[in-house]
Amino acid sequence: MTIIVTGGAGFIGSNFIFYTLKNHPEYRVICLDKLTYAGNLSTLKDVMDKPNFKFVKADICDREAVYDLFESEKPDVVVNFAAESHVDRSIESPDVFLRTNIIGTSVLMDACRKYGIVRFHQVSTDEVYGDLPIDRPDLFFTEETPLHTSSPYSSSKASADLLALAYHRTYGLPVTISRCSNNYGPYHFPEKLIPLMIANALNDKPLPVYGKGENIRDWLYVEDHCKAIDLILQKGRVGEVYNIGGHNEMRNIDIVKIILKELGKPESLITFVTDRKGHDLRYAIDPTKIHSELGWLPETKFADGIKKTIKWYLENRSWWEEIISGEYMDYYDKMYSNR
Ligand code: NAD
Ligand code: DAU
Repeated sequence: MTIIVTGGAGFIGSNFIFYTLKNHPEYRVICLDKLTYAGNLSTLKDVMDKPNFKFVKADICDREAVYDLFESEKPDVVVNFAAESHVDRSIESPDVFLRTNIIGTSVLMDACRKYGIVRFHQVSTDEVYGDLPIDRPDLFFTEETPLHTSSPYSSSKASADLLALAYHRTYGLPVTISRCSNNYGPYHFPEKLIPLMIANALNDKPLPVYGKGENIRDWLYVEDHCKAIDLILQKGRVGEVYNIGGHNEMRNIDIVKIILKELGKPESLITFVTDRKGHDLRYAIDPTKIHSELGWLPETKFADGIKKTIKWYLENRSWWEEIISGEYMDYYDKMYSNR
């Protein structure tokens, strides 16, 4: 079994590579990644020398490079994590989101059609469903919830989902799609809420909370997401969408306070800043389908997962300090000064 993992130098893709190499040592894993600002080769250093692992630097929009890779490696399965993934960046510059997230996905699926594969799995997001009201805790996203996006990022992901379903219906491509809630854990890029708050707290910098911090996200430890995707590859039905989430809804402000408490830092570091444009209020996944069809259940409780994550950031300071010392600071100043 040869599996191409696109975007494997990013947060979830790298965790999925580690999970796959550990749980399926008989697989050959090929990581295809453009190494954008969010991709980091040092993340993969522990697997780089494994005989059944190979890294290829390429852009998923580069048809020639993608076809060459399929021709030489003859993959059985493709799991597409490669994407521009940060909502705030999509509000500043939508173009690259449309290019990578939509065109890139179509190039990969064209390669799958041309060379033949047994599965193309599209890693999507709960953000394609838009948001839920905060005062209706009885409502959840199911696979039947209409797509209703808010940001250029979520619109590009929804477009890719529709294309994947169209390739299944029109060309019979064996596609599956998963729509997961917010992940957290090791190797999470420090522009996102949890790692940003950990890094700022450790540096005694202000913790910028958008609006009143009352928006709700449904957090899942990254390894539980990886396990769910693996199950979908093994047992999922082609042409189907599977929601992934562990009923772990939390307000942003409560997450920030937990991080400060865990690190022994004062709540006076919290700074309320101008809200995100079009900010989704609440995400909440109903995972009934993946639970009843595939037997998936999350294993890591938030209380344990956040401790493990904070410990990881404390023990791997060089990983994130190197990132935040580079061009990331230009982004940070642009996004957060005068906010
Ligand atoms: P990330 O930003 O950490 O990593 C993205 C990776 O894709 C990077 O390694 C980057 O170099 C690579 N990449 C970007 N453009 C590329 C291109 N044109 N060609 C090849 N590689 C390219 O993202 P993440 O948080 O790990 O998210 C991975 C996937 O999971 C995305 O598709 C995202 O939409 C989805 N997702 C993320 C979350 C979350 O909470 N982070 C939740 C649900 C779904
Ligand atoms: O729900 C899945 C999605 O989760 C994925 O599809 C995206 O790729 C991923 O980035 C994530 O999107 P969010 O926008 O929910 O994540 P982010 O970490 O950017 O923000 C989480 C919440 O925290 C959100 O309500 C905005 C808020 N926030 C974020 C940042 C970066 C702040 O209050 N302050 C901040 O500085």
